[in-house]
Amino acid sequence: MSSTPSTSSTPRLTVLGTGYLGATHAICMAVLGYDVLGVDTDRAKVAALNDGRVPFFEPGLPALLRKALDSGRLSFTTDLSAAGEFGDVHFICVGTPQQAGSHAADLRYVEGVTRDLAPYLRRRCLVVGKSTVPVGTAARLTRLLQDNAPAGTEVELAWNPEFLREGYAVEDTMRPDRLVFGIGSAWAEQTLRAAFAPVIRNGVPVVITDIPTAELVKVAANSFLATKISYINAMAEVCEATGADVQDLASALSYDTRIGGRFLHPGLGFGGGCLPKDIRAFVHRAEEVGVGRSVAFLRQVDAINQRRRARTVDLVREQAGGSLEGVRVCCLGAAFKPDSDDVRDAPALDVARMLQEEGAIVSVYDPEAMDNARRVQPTLHYAEGVFDAAADAQVVVLLTEWDQFRSLDPRRLAEVVATRSIVDGRHALDPAEWTAAAWTYRALGRAG
Ligand code: UDX
Repeated sequence: MSSTPSTSSTPRLTVLGTGYLGATHAICMAVLGYDVLGVDTDRAKVAALNDGRVPFFEPGLPALLRKALDSGRLSFTTDLSAAGEFGDVHFICVGTPQQAGSHAADLRYVEGVTRDLAPYLRRRCLVVGKSTVPVGTAARLTRLLQDNAPAGTEVELAWNPEFLREGYAVEDTMRPDRLVFGIGSAWAEQTLRAAFAPVIRNGVPVVITDIPTAELVKVAANSFLATKISYINAMAEVCEATGADVQDLASALSYDTRIGGRFLHPGLGFGGGCLPKDIRAFVHRAEEVGVGRSVAFLRQVDAINQRRRARTVDLVREQAGGSLEGVRVCCLGAAFKPDSDDVRDAPALDVARMLQEEGAIVSVYDPEAMDNARRVQPTLHYAEGVFDAAADAQVVVLLTEWDQFRSLDPRRLAEVVATRSIVDGRHALDPAEWTAAAWTYRALGRAG
């Protein structure tokens, strides 16, 4: 790849951080025709990507990585100086996890990569934040960049929040619902438009905002989604106390186009690397800027979500006759949602852990998340497959709604379990089918 400046119509891109977000962005942009350099401090990850291996599970991505590498437009490095030399637009895609012992976002990676990149920025360029950050972070990063870059104020910062869902990361990158450009100048807007030209040509709407608004959009969106999930799960609690059925309730609500049915699926609730930590960091930041009251309801959203995990354990305990001590429980699922191997804040794994803490003998199976789950919860027993996990189980609990679990034949599963007892933590099964096969079926928000 040459180091001479490219034309402004096709800027050369760097992507800093090659996790779920960065790797997907780098690969998709190269497929769309850009020259892209991905950067990560993790040598093993860089080697794997250069070798054509995606270091996590994401449908469709391995084929696109091979295509992008074959085109010669994509490579990965650990060398930030190469990135500074190469890029016209630098995308920051590093993680902002929850701080240990606090609800605040941990900004060390975002600040670290910005500080480390700055000395290599010797010409006009645009640094674009994609990571989810507390509002106000970009202003600090701008100072950090301009104070430390040889190009000084020729280096501009913009914010372009990322909304990709794991499992649909390719689709969400190629055809997002919208692009949000938080910019401080007409040049920044023009440069971002050039950096997303093929996506914009596909008819994707662009929303131009100031930088603080762009920082806020992501947490506002994720807070709304989390609230919608917790809303229906709060209704599930009311249903449980009144003998009503939350599935039927959600279905009736969903026909109202003002409400809509998406993110209205009751069950074990949300987890993952975004929703839980984003709502907590948002509350923390709002309190810092004196508007904690405005988003205090998000504490309730979080509490409702946590209660679903405890309630799932209650249902398993009830199914087991009142105590989990020595009870063999088969846990189907570990990932925080299907089509992902991500176990960050995974409700499924949390439930498996809680069951074990109460004395249950827990056997876990997940189609993709076994290695990650083993790392996080090494003391659980991990089975080879569904039927191995369910062998002699006294209770089966479905925790992640993989298609493989949705399509389970209750009669076949009955052949291996000790007791036909199932808790459906995700409303993924047809209760009539399971009760017809002589199973005792329980689900959150439904009469027992
Ligand atoms: C989310 C946002 O959707 C995405 O826009 C953002 O960029 C990153 O965070 P993701 O974490 O990949 O994406 O997962 P998502 O599909 O949003 O699901 C989040 C959690 O909510 C999962 O644990 C899922 O099981 C749960 N969920 C989702 C429900 O419990 N009920 C629903 O109705 C929908």
